[in-house]
Amino acid sequence: MKLKDFEILFLNDKQIEELVPSKKVFELTETSLAEYAAGNAVNPVKLHLPIYPDYEGYINSMPAYLKRLKIAGAKIVSVYRDNIKLFKLPSTIGTVLLHNPESGMPYAIMNGTYITAARTGAVMGVMAKYTVRNNAKSLTIIGAGAQGFSAFIMISLAVPSIEEIRVVDIKAEAQDNFIAMAKAAFPDKTYVKYNSIQEACKNCDIILAAATSDKPLLANINFAKGSTVLIIEEDFGNTFIEKFDKFVGDFRECLIERINDDAKHHFELTGELVDELTEDSVTAEIGDIIIGKTKGRTSDDEIILAASVGMGIQDIIVGKEAYDRAVEQGIGIVIDFVGK
Ligand SMILES: NC(=O)c1ccc[n+]([C@@H]2O[C@H](COP(=O)([O-])OP(=O)(O)OC[C@H]3O[C@@H](n4cnc5c(N)ncnc54)[C@H](O)[C@@H]3O)[C@@H](O)[C@H]2O)c1
Repeated sequence: MKLKDFEILFLNDKQIEELVPSKKVFELTETSLAEYAAGNAVNPVKLHLPIYPDYEGYINSMPAYLKRLKIAGAKIVSVYRDNIKLFKLPSTIGTVLLHNPESGMPYAIMNGTYITAARTGAVMGVMAKYTVRNNAKSLTIIGAGAQGFSAFIMISLAVPSIEEIRVVDIKAEAQDNFIAMAKAAFPDKTYVKYNSIQEACKNCDIILAAATSDKPLLANINFAKGSTVLIIEEDFGNTFIEKFDKFVGDFRECLIERINDDAKHHFELTGELVDELTEDSVTAEIGDIIIGKTKGRTSDDEIILAASVGMGIQDIIVGKEAYDRAVEQGIGIVIDFVGK
């Protein structure tokens, strides 16, 4: 397939999932974080548009540019935690746009829902690769939804020694679906359902928080020596990070802004205060660890916290891969952008 100027390729979610498998998303995500750390990326702090309190959701705009790889574009992503219950729609829905960095002309528009879950999981996988202790055996997943499942896949790719998966969710159906899909991907692991986060985290090597909860879930948990706590979603402040020897983030400035915004929203909902973090709270960015500028885990005793806020560069690098493979294979719908 060859696209003309003023033509845009549209790709749907299923096509992208088939074009860019998990392993490839993992590699691309690591590359995007390394490019960022090496100064080869422009990734502004995401613009957060709260729709709450009118509706329990928000929409983020995430422009990004990978200079050396010549990929520019943006993702728009919405998170509506009650979507499954109210509309049978995913909680997290994305759209990715790619632009030619030379002319600014858009050349692709695609569903970014799989891309979001895959790259969010992949950041957790990359963080696990550099922060999990040797020979880790157990993984607790809190929130058995789209992001939790993708993170499970990516962490399992990064840490093949994991044998036992503990699955916590307030919905038994979500636990059952998760375990059925997980068994199909990794049949040799043991899967156990838990209702108590406290119990699931006992002597656990890796804990992943990915629940759409409006209250902090990990505040009162004691983490085992040598464990790694990976966070996709959780409200926390200074008291929480004091439990850890290191706090690794993907994008320091944006992560702290987001955690503090979430804390304010949490306060509006519940009246409970969460103490604010500063950029110094983050010990290291994962990209700096990948390129060897600083170290990840340095001993099997450390307790490490790693959290991601998500970056547009992670989305556009996967989007570009989907585009390239689609053009090669003649997949997608070509749209005339101008009509004259
Ligand atoms: N950091 C990032 O880059 C990034 C990217 C995308 C989404 N997110 C966040 O990830 C979160 C999860 O998104 P998703 O698309 O997986 O949603 P989802 O609805 O698919 O899954 C969330 C799961 O959490 C469960 N849950 C809710 N409250 C719980 C509780 N108290 N205990 C245990 N489980 C509970 C729900 O039952 C559901 O199964 C969202 O809040 C979103 O903001 C973060």
